[in-house]
Amino acid sequence: MAAVGSAVGLGNIWRFPYICGKYGGGAFLIVYLCFVFLLGSVLMMSEFVIGRRAQHTPVKAFQTLAPKHKAWGLVGLLGIIASFFILSQYLVISGWTTGYVWHAVSGTLASLGTDSGVISEFFNQFSTSTWDPIVSILIFAVLVLAVILGGVQKGIENVSKVLMPILVGLVLVLCVRSITLPGAVRGVEYLFLPDFAKLSSEGVLAALGQALFSLSVGMGVMLVYGSYIPVNDNIFKTAMWITACDTLIAVLAGLAIFPAVFSCGFEPTGGPGLVFKVLPNVFNTMGGAGTVFASLFFLLLMVAAVTSAISLLEALTAFFSEHTSTSRTVGAVLFFSVTAALGSLFSLSVGPLSHVKLAGLTLFDFVDRLNSIYLPPICALGTIIFFGWVMPEEDVRDEFSNHGTLSIPFYPILRFLARYVAPLALLIVLISGIIS
Ligand code: PHE
Repeated sequence: MAAVGSAVGLGNIWRFPYICGKYGGGAFLIVYLCFVFLLGSVLMMSEFVIGRRAQHTPVKAFQTLAPKHKAWGLVGLLGIIASFFILSQYLVISGWTTGYVWHAVSGTLASLGTDSGVISEFFNQFSTSTWDPIVSILIFAVLVLAVILGGVQKGIENVSKVLMPILVGLVLVLCVRSITLPGAVRGVEYLFLPDFAKLSSEGVLAALGQALFSLSVGMGVMLVYGSYIPVNDNIFKTAMWITACDTLIAVLAGLAIFPAVFSCGFEPTGGPGLVFKVLPNVFNTMGGAGTVFASLFFLLLMVAAVTSAISLLEALTAFFSEHTSTSRTVGAVLFFSVTAALGSLFSLSVGPLSHVKLAGLTLFDFVDRLNSIYLPPICALGTIIFFGWVMPEEDVRDEFSNHGTLSIPFYPILRFLARYVAPLALLIVLISGIIS
């Protein structure tokens, strides 16, 4: 459940719809699903296997399993670097979500009515202002730290068990409302009728990045969680469950968003603000109940973001305390302070510092690229090659079969995917995407 909590988050509800909308809808969805099931799930298993086998955090895990080739530790390091930047960027969107909880509860969102222009303008003003997003980031950060330092990590599993299903229930309500809006069918078609002419090689790379981001793989997080998996747990089943839940929630989020996008006069290519612009519009078509739904929705989305942020912080903290003699508490506070400061800078780069460019991109867009199409795919490539070609095969079998106590009929397919399909696909997509 903690790993589901890590996987399910803003990636499903905020990022999936906007990336899917940006890169063409249905065709993107198909490519995304292929990546999730043929590559993402295998990667998740490989991270679980490496973590549980080695009982270490990323760098040492690779080095322990390949003692003669310590350089493999670099793959782990890349994952940790990715976690660091992802957490910084994640805090920005978590801040927006936190801010929207307040705007929903206070009735501000309801007062915007159903004019898409007014609602968009509200988001633009909020996200590009100097202080509101930063204060929201800080409130969110304090909340996460309180959860961690309060020692209630165990509570996270329970929170995930109770609150995540309610979030899914709310997304379902939103789907129904969205699909029954006038003209909504175009949105359903946009999501489910593929038009491959709209798909570019950049879109394929974006689908890969989104699959990795959403499953929390390619950044060491699942490897660290893998090291906590009890010896009797079934790694294959666990990974398949997480993958299925995560994907279902992303598709449902798409189904809640796209019909409303078309019905309310937004553009599917609306960018990172898409969900924050479209959903208030949907809530405001619900009359008086809208405020209640909106408040509950953004609150639960914030909780989903908390469980994901905690997993990122956990990877960083566990790594840090394994390599230095500092306590976990000091590590957590340190990493969180630095990432929150960096997150505030990224937030400013959406607004007052939008003229500051790196490689022609704002800092926020730059780090978004780094986090989706560079660091995680490269770390994923290293991990899968390690898993398929370097790690002793007996160890892999042993982990899947729980020391020979489980039958593993799926193993040959998995092995084939891990050795040939996944590395080749990753290489091709990475090279062609980056060149284009
Ligand atoms: N998977 C999370 C989400 O979908 C984000 C995340 C990425 C969490 C990487 C941990 C590691 O929101």
